[in-house]
Amino acid sequence: MASYTIHHDGKVWPVSVARSDAELREAQALDDAELGGFKGITWEELVQIRQEGFVFLLRDETSGKLLAQSQLLLSSIKEQEVGANDACCYGTVGRGYGQILFKAQEKAARQAGKTRMWLTVRVENTRSIRARLKAGFRITAYDRDHYGPRDSDGARLIMEKDLVDEPLPFAPKEQLDRLRRGETTTLGDDQGFSSLEEYPVEVAIPVFSSSSAQEPRVDFRAHDALEQTLASGYVGVGLLLPSELGRKTGKSALFILRRRVVMPSNRCP
Ligand SMILES: CC(C)(COP(=O)(O)OP(=O)(O)OC[C@H]1O[C@@H](n2cnc3c(N)ncnc32)[C@H](O)[C@@H]1OP(=O)(O)O)[C@@H](O)C(=O)NCCC(=O)NCCS
Repeated sequence: MASYTIHHDGKVWPVSVARSDAELREAQALDDAELGGFKGITWEELVQIRQEGFVFLLRDETSGKLLAQSQLLLSSIKEQEVGANDACCYGTVGRGYGQILFKAQEKAARQAGKTRMWLTVRVENTRSIRARLKAGFRITAYDRDHYGPRDSDGARLIMEKDLVDEPLPFAPKEQLDRLRRGETTTLGDDQGFSSLEEYPVEVAIPVFSSSSAQEPRVDFRAHDALEQTLASGYVGVGLLLPSELGRKTGKSALFILRRRVVMPSNRCP
């Protein structure tokens, strides 16, 4: 399909699919501007994605200027394996337009008969994580050396969305209420991870948020906590912002993880 019509926030957005080399170059330039400091998309990857999926473009209707772009893979390329039922959201760039492109990705994935969408993201890219939680994604795993060593910023979270049993989007207000009522256990400095042994229903993990390439920093404490919690049967369902937590300064956001319904086998009576 050459273009998708996306309904978002009471408006209709035409999202086109890149076909020509010139369009791919535009997409790469926008990606470089945002993600060049991290793992930006390469020309080779873009050419393969054009073949095996979609490079979506969102333009300003008056000027034609490219506002946002995103990539969706429906089958494997050299750099990335993609399962038969899966669609991989390879990357998205365009602040303020993320939800529109996420919807285009989802529409294309459903049309292709896929049952699951997934992606990788840096632990500290809280803006992107929060945006995906809003679109119904969950944090399901931590991959310590996805793009190389953790010290060199190679670790990534895996987020996924089930297109059959569709999860509800994250609801920050309800989450804040639960936090204030003391129903969420924060894995803080003093407790270490010992409170995990009690297997609480819901845990919170503080993280330094850095959404831009200008402030790259690996929050090792958050990485350790996420790795251990996700491996212990929890799933990431939310992220509260510093402003919502009443923190006027600082960059500390709060991941929220919930115990999966099934208890680990060694805990069954
Ligand atoms: C990721 C990206 C496409 C998301 O699109 P977006 O249009 O910015 O997303 P949205 O506006 O829908 O959502 C952003 C959410 O993050 C929140 N947010 C804003 N700044 C934030 C910050 N510093 N930390 C955490 N959350 C933040 C917003 O409040 C909003 O959540 P809410 O509406 O529930 O309150 C866009 O931010 C982007 O281009 N980022 C740079 C490139 C990138 O990181 N791409 C992803 C690579 S995996």
